[in-house]
Amino acid sequence: MVLPPPAAPLALGPRRCDHGPMSIRSTTLQRRVAGAGLVLAAGLGLAPGLTGSSRPIRAGRAMVVSQDAIASAVGVEVMRGGGNAVDAAVATALALAVTYPTAGNLGGGGFLVYRPAEGDPVAYDFRETAPGRSSPTMFLRDGEYDPVLHHNSHLAVGVPGTVAGLHLAWTEQGTLPWPALVDPAVRLAREGFAVSDALARSLAGVLPRMAPYPASVAQFSKDGEPYRAGEVLRQGDLARTLARIAEQGPDGFYRGETAALVEREMRANGGIMTRADLAAYRAVRRTPIRGVYRGYEVLSMPPISSGGAAIVQMLNILEHDDLAASGFGSAATVHLMIEAMRRAYADRARYLGDPAFNPAMPVERLTSKAYAAQLRRTIDDGRASVSSPESFEWPREGGETTHLSVVDGARNAVSLTYTLEQGYGSKITVPGAGFLLNNEMGDFNAGPGITTGGGLIGTAPNLAEPGKRMLSSMSPTIVTRDGQLVLVTGSPGGRTIINTVLQTILNVVDFGMNVQEAVDAPRIHHQWLPDVTRYERWGLSPDTLALLRGRGHTLVETRAQGAVSAIFYNMEDDVLEGAEDRRRTSAAVGF
Ligand code: DON
Repeated sequence: MVLPPPAAPLALGPRRCDHGPMSIRSTTLQRRVAGAGLVLAAGLGLAPGLTGSSRPIRAGRAMVVSQDAIASAVGVEVMRGGGNAVDAAVATALALAVTYPTAGNLGGGGFLVYRPAEGDPVAYDFRETAPGRSSPTMFLRDGEYDPVLHHNSHLAVGVPGTVAGLHLAWTEQGTLPWPALVDPAVRLAREGFAVSDALARSLAGVLPRMAPYPASVAQFSKDGEPYRAGEVLRQGDLARTLARIAEQGPDGFYRGETAALVEREMRANGGIMTRADLAAYRAVRRTPIRGVYRGYEVLSMPPISSGGAAIVQMLNILEHDDLAASGFGSAATVHLMIEAMRRAYADRARYLGDPAFNPAMPVERLTSKAYAAQLRRTIDDGRASVSSPESFEWPREGGETTHLSVVDGARNAVSLTYTLEQGYGSKITVPGAGFLLNNEMGDFNAGPGITTGGGLIGTAPNLAEPGKRMLSSMSPTIVTRDGQLVLVTGSPGGRTIINTVLQTILNVVDFGMNVQEAVDAPRIHHQWLPDVTRYERWGLSPDTLALLRGRGHTLVETRAQGAVSAIFYNMEDDVLEGAEDRRRTSAAVGF
């Protein structure tokens, strides 16, 4: 990648930047990039031995935190070359489509929240849509719900939004030429990059499930043999698709050769997505949800995400109590958090769906202080409420999504979460086009009236209909105070995303943690139904657990929850502090 010389001095004094000209904690990056033949514009100041530190990575000028070190470095290079946070986010997301195929994508969708240092914040919705021949009953076979159709078939593929969304955000906010943002991804796909340990393990794990799709096996293995760490993964078809996107913009994806290849794959395998569906796809500009919590402003994703509304609703409920006094991890605090979660997730299930199809959604009421006060009064401080069992819960969501946070020198901030739904989405690589297709249709409800104790739901707001977006939990979020940036955050994790983001905010605002501590701190999750609180291993002490059980809570230990990519703006030092989430791969890179 060759970028113009940086517009500003790169190196910062050691006081402001712990790790030299470019701050990075990943010791594997240089090796992986060298393996790829990717030319970074400057040497990377590596910081060996810092993994495990609870100090955030600090950088004076600009920073990207994503789940892949190469992709973060690509974003930082874009900013060193004069690009702003949106340029960097676009380039990082496109690089992730190559280097983090688990969730980075062209064939999925997501959300981008942008808060410029000056002017109004804006949200870009590039959620997938249901193809034109979709219907509420499309996941039924002979009148019976078929989970395979819903989650693991060509019918599970929604019309991808990522390319349109990134392009729309760039059109309205970007500064560098579009091809300059796509080119690093083209080169990473064409020339390859060294597979990391984590990616090697992940690809080996998914390979058996790719077996029905020869194009996937061909792209992500060596003739069926898993890649080993350090080997170079090249993706020629993907490079050609990316080159079309670089040259033609969204038309390189939604029309012409790429669209024809998608339609051919669909036609041959019982799918319903057509070239016309692709040509009709539009990303949407939306107004972010806004809330105020203890004087901090919270900006997040509005419906079709349920995330922003639920986070603001929970913060409004929790604002009634002094959490700093009751303390992190105490039974009193966790009890209140669970009860706030229970109520917000119940409302999410009752009310939320695509706003274009549900014009009467009471989002303003759900996020109002008055409604939160009402809900707070329904919480008994000494006793768990009961989630109504005759109701329903949401269908299971998949295990992978990815989030990236970016802040540039002007303190413009981007919070971007996007996904293929499950890890590697549908596992279907479009033959000849080299990108994985999502299985996001699984986020629609199962079918009309199909509401079962086993976890299916059949209510109307989120049934599949032509052109409709499926409800999401992705919650890219930005926090400010007195007009200044404070925190950029987000996470993967299906429905747990909302609670993960909530807790990152509480950890900073209420418990005074630095951003790395806020990300490290153990998390909990309650989602109304099932009526169970999951807590991370070692997250709650035995006496706290006993107190909570005494109040009637059911608690179950779980493995890691989420993978936050967060940046805190330390106003006093005018420095950016990035946090990596060691639950998964993560890379904060700054300069
Ligand atoms: O949009 C959603 O809420 C889900 N499809 C996201 C899936 C997810 O986060 C899985 N991740 N780890």
